[in-house]
Amino acid sequence: MNHDFWLERWQRDEIGFHQQAVHRYLPRHWPSLALPPGARVFVPLCGKSRDMLWLRDAGFEVIGVELSLKAAHAFCGENELSMSRRRDGPFECFHGGGIALLVGDFFDLRPGHIAGVAAAFDRAALVALPPSARARYAAHMAALLPAGTQTLLVTLEYDQRQMEGPPFSVAAEEVRELYAGSNRMEPLQREEIIQDEPKFRGRGLTALAETAWRLDRV
Ligand SMILES: C[S@@+](CC[C@H](N)C(=O)[O-])C[C@H]1O[C@@H](n2cnc3c(N)ncnc32)[C@H](O)[C@@H]1O
Repeated sequence: MNHDFWLERWQRDEIGFHQQAVHRYLPRHWPSLALPPGARVFVPLCGKSRDMLWLRDAGFEVIGVELSLKAAHAFCGENELSMSRRRDGPFECFHGGGIALLVGDFFDLRPGHIAGVAAAFDRAALVALPPSARARYAAHMAALLPAGTQTLLVTLEYDQRQMEGPPFSVAAEEVRELYAGSNRMEPLQREEIIQDEPKFRGRGLTALAETAWRLDRV
């Protein structure tokens, strides 16, 4: 999954991953992180996710990173956000309404770009990456997030022989392997969701489980 893959997906509006509704695990599990009001929340590979609006409206300061400039423009336009824009090294930074979007490569982020974050929300970021990139992603998250940072991570699990990713299946054992050295982790909820996912049934899946994890950077 190189950059062109994602930039072309955005260019062609092939963004089936984008959800109109806020992810149900946010209102359900975010409160268990017990963050102080106004805490800074990092959203990796954020797309134009409406989850960022939910986090902002819940009183948090949001900072997302996304490869596609088109996604950032769509996020501002569709949500009628007036955002200022400036260049910061490899990133085009949009800022306004309690949300900052850094447009560029997640792997170019340095801790200073997201200084002060207390939490992260990963929906469709880890699972967007092929197996070869996931260890690098988890290591980079660990390098970016200071000790004490909590992450609400959402993973999907299915028979990878039935469908090609993305999204990819990331089994519980892999989550444990990826984050064991950097985080304590706790599965919060696991649900079978194939009955609510006609799109994935159409791609050949007969079972699909979604899991919410709480990670605690040690
Ligand atoms: C599956 S989408 C999920 C978007 C969002 N999390 C959501 O829930 O709608 C993955 C996103 O990651 C972005 N992306 C992929 N690789 C990236 C990278 N290296 N740096 C920043 N963004 C990246 C893609 O452009 C795409 O918008």
